[in-house]
Amino acid sequence: MKIKSQLSQIITQALQSANIETTDAIVISDATKPEFGDYQFNGIMKLAKILKKNPREIATTVLEHIDTTGMIDRVEVAGPGFINIWLDNEWLAKASTSILDDDRVGVGYVETPQKVVIDYSGPNMAKQMHVGHLRSSIIGDTLATLLEFLGDEVIRQNHIGDWGTQFGMLIAYLEEQGTDTASQNLKDLEQFYKDAKVRFDESEDFANKAREYVVKIQQGDAHCLKLWKQFIDTSLGHCEEVYEKLGVNLNREDVRAESFYNDALSNIISTLKEQNISTTSDGAECVFLEGSDVPLIIQKGDGGYLYATTDLAALKFRAKELEADRICYVVDARQGGHFKQVFAISKMAGMVGEEVNLEHIAFGTMMDKSGKPFKTRDGGTVKLIDLLDEAVVRAKATIKEREGHEEAELEKVAKAIGIGAVKYADLSISRESNYLFSWDKMLSFDGNTALYMQYAYARIQSIFRKHNGEINGEIIIGDALEHRLSLMLLKFEDTLTKASIEATPHTITSYLYDLVTLFMKFYEQNPILKEGVEEEIKMSRLQLALLTANVIKKGLDILGIEVVDKI
Ligand code: ARG
Repeated sequence: MKIKSQLSQIITQALQSANIETTDAIVISDATKPEFGDYQFNGIMKLAKILKKNPREIATTVLEHIDTTGMIDRVEVAGPGFINIWLDNEWLAKASTSILDDDRVGVGYVETPQKVVIDYSGPNMAKQMHVGHLRSSIIGDTLATLLEFLGDEVIRQNHIGDWGTQFGMLIAYLEEQGTDTASQNLKDLEQFYKDAKVRFDESEDFANKAREYVVKIQQGDAHCLKLWKQFIDTSLGHCEEVYEKLGVNLNREDVRAESFYNDALSNIISTLKEQNISTTSDGAECVFLEGSDVPLIIQKGDGGYLYATTDLAALKFRAKELEADRICYVVDARQGGHFKQVFAISKMAGMVGEEVNLEHIAFGTMMDKSGKPFKTRDGGTVKLIDLLDEAVVRAKATIKEREGHEEAELEKVAKAIGIGAVKYADLSISRESNYLFSWDKMLSFDGNTALYMQYAYARIQSIFRKHNGEINGEIIIGDALEHRLSLMLLKFEDTLTKASIEATPHTITSYLYDLVTLFMKFYEQNPILKEGVEEEIKMSRLQLALLTANVIKKGLDILGIEVVDKI
């Protein structure tokens, strides 16, 4: 339910009937403490400055004009000139009852759907997918699911790194090794790359062949291209294994690799030259931007193009061909400078219209306990597939003692919990912070973890199993906890909207954490199945539990995390 916008309409009307004109958007905030009500309007301070009047006086006038017949129970002037707002219990009861049978749990659609390109994952084919790509895949996928759920048209783009001089060496090595064993040899890309490099350094013949192959791929030589395609295909296959394990929704159709833009690159350079946006400096073509200390190189002295050139071509393609309104790049924060530059240049050169929103959805680095970037014990990069398998093994150990699961079921539950833990840990921190990888923390039953939410969901299911009958009737708000719980449930849409605008999955996890914590409190104080609870109240509480489970499930679903009925 769009509660905030409904409240701001009520306040707008009150201002109008009090003859107070304002051009400011009416922003309603969540109250920061229960004694301040449910919501707060604090735009009066600003109004008072413009009208040169006492804020409390204005607040009092506005207050008299607020319509409290439906949604609002009462309002109060507070502090130097705020208006505190309490919602009406009956309204809350009706509103929450009305979404009980709704499979969108009361969440509507955006008013103006947008076409949104989300660039995420983007692994490099010559290397093992690393934890940075893990973060990008997880955050990007959640963003895509979220925006789609809210009604935007989402175009997923997996901008894989499949081009560059290193591929000459790799396919020369692939050929030498025999392509029929490619799949096996490429299992460990890091090792494959190292072995190829050894050959490159030790054999002049091999090195020459590798160099020759670079030129040949670029010229479109059929044999070399075939080898290259095979290499990319196998390498991508490994990434897909990770997507599959993670439940990340990226397919071959979403791949639009760097090489896709090859033919467009010369045009990018000529456009920038013509408009005098770029200049030749030391033989290279560069763009000097105000506010950046280093120029952006778009063509090397030898004519070669760079990462940035491809990104400019991709920006143009996304704006002009895909007709995106919003383009989101879910990429490591360390590439912030790069995106700032290519965004600015693409707009300057008219490759992307002014109205298109370009966003770098930056995220921090994954750190280990000692505060260093995440590596294996021997210093190598962690293979993602191993990491995910380890998550499931650890999850299994965590839950083995409980509920007496059958082996097959245990596997399923462990998968949901293990993979869920890895994803949730990633999504629940504010994305730009670096993040400390800790198995113990992410697999804990307590705290802001996937398991805490999954466990709450399973507990609610066990209440239903115990009840073992129909659940019907209306939600009745009998006390402050029920008031808060039903309101929290209705806040789901406002939460998702905020997360979609700011591209912050942690807005959703924080909400779920607060919801579950509140539910646990409610459940402790308001017995449901206990002897002596009136039938009507029992049903109302069961319905609140049901709605809570539905919201947890939908919330986790958007985060790409599964629920299970028993833990
Ligand atoms: N392959 C890049 C990397 O690993 C990420 C690609 C991000 N997307 C983009 N359009 N630049 O750093």
